Amino acid sequence: IMNDKGANIVQQSLARWDIDLFSSAFKKHAYSIYKDLRANSPVHPVNIPLERKAWLVTKYDDVVAMLKDHRLTMDARSDCRTGPLPPFVEKKYLSTNMLSSDPPDHTRLRKLVQKGFTPRMVEGLRERIEKIAQTLLDQVQDRKQMDLIEDYAFPLPIIVICEMLGIPSEDRDQFREWSNTIVDTTNHPEKFQMFSQQVREFTQYLQEMIEQKRKYPEDDLISRLVQVESEGSHLTEAELSSMIFLLIVAGHETTVNLIGNGGLALLEHPDQMEMLKSAPDLMEQAVEELLRYYSPVELATNRWAKEEICLRDTVISKGDMVIASIASANRDEEHFECPDELDITRRENRHLAFGQGIHYCLGAPLARLEGQIALSNLIQRFPDLRLGVSADALRWRPSYLMRGLKTLPVLL
Ligand code: HEM
Repeated sequence: IMNDKGANIVQQSLARWDIDLFSSAFKKHAYSIYKDLRANSPVHPVNIPLERKAWLVTKYDDVVAMLKDHRLTMDARSDCRTGPLPPFVEKKYLSTNMLSSDPPDHTRLRKLVQKGFTPRMVEGLRERIEKIAQTLLDQVQDRKQMDLIEDYAFPLPIIVICEMLGIPSEDRDQFREWSNTIVDTTNHPEKFQMFSQQVREFTQYLQEMIEQKRKYPEDDLISRLVQVESEGSHLTEAELSSMIFLLIVAGHETTVNLIGNGGLALLEHPDQMEMLKSAPDLMEQAVEELLRYYSPVELATNRWAKEEICLRDTVISKGDMVIASIASANRDEEHFECPDELDITRRENRHLAFGQGIHYCLGAPLARLEGQIALSNLIQRFPDLRLGVSADALRWRPSYLMRGLKTLPVLL
């Protein structure tokens, strides 16, 4: 298998395996590469720019262990890490967030917003999410085709998170550009220049938004956070800005992919689509299987070893990066029967799509609800939905952390 520059990324000889996680070739063949790695090299060395050494972990049990291991830090500024900081980490107005922190900062930051994302709070958004889904489908009702990503999967979650935060959802195309560049760029040197400009613009936007909420507070999440910040030392300026950044990015990058990848998986498996149409009560279970099958977050956030760790036969030295592949764990044959089959009636589906441990996804109840509502409205409204291009023509976005399609043309 070749990378984008024509070099081999997987060769027959294990010792020479050289995997380029940034190439679109890897994205395309990832599931078969993971399968080989799980069988032959479950803790595999990979090259990551700016990192001295990095390990890709692909077995379910190891991924769980790594996500829960307090000997790993999420903080790239930690003393254990040597070498220059990744460009994102240098931007403290974006990177001082809970996903890049360890306790006690992590605990304090998460506590400030977790009330807004409990299943009960999220259930209160059901009607509004239904309405958004229906309005978006009304807009394409008379067309023969649409791009499932552009016309539906992207606008739905971004409108929801913008309304929760209290920012104008009309700015969403701008967020997408900033957010896509920043997320796709993580550790990708060829894109660093583009990245700096997007970071500058996004940070400025956040600062202006915070200023406005300070002057004219409303009943929304940003106003409440601004209030906390002004009440004392619970939240610094950088933490406030980074929190909003994280919620915007995490609130839409991933859920777009749940709706897009979920739609694709159902279109690729007409028998499952038919079963779901005839038994809509299966939707909750189906969304869990779709999260497992094409996990929207492919690789967990970067972590570094604070001390030496032994995993299987491998010694992970202090300062090494550990990359846990959620996508691979979710296809591990030791945990899932026929893991490469899509089965919306699958029981005991303990997938890791939302992570594990203290960083378990804060937005999981919201993402689940959005996914269920989006997909059930879609298939009810367009029961004859079909792929608008051959499956071979579809392209995964070349994102290091995420799995999501660039476009998904469908016939209505
Ligand atoms: C964390 C997945 C939607 C907010 C995470 C993590 C995963 C994940 C895997 C843990 C990362 C790690 O430990 O390395 C997903 C998926 C989603 C989704 C698959 C959609 C299908 C959302 C939504 C929000 C959200 C809608 C809402 C704002 C967060 C936050 C964290 C997080 C704030 C950091 C939690 C912490 O550090 O304690 N998500 N997420 N996510 N997610 Fe989500």
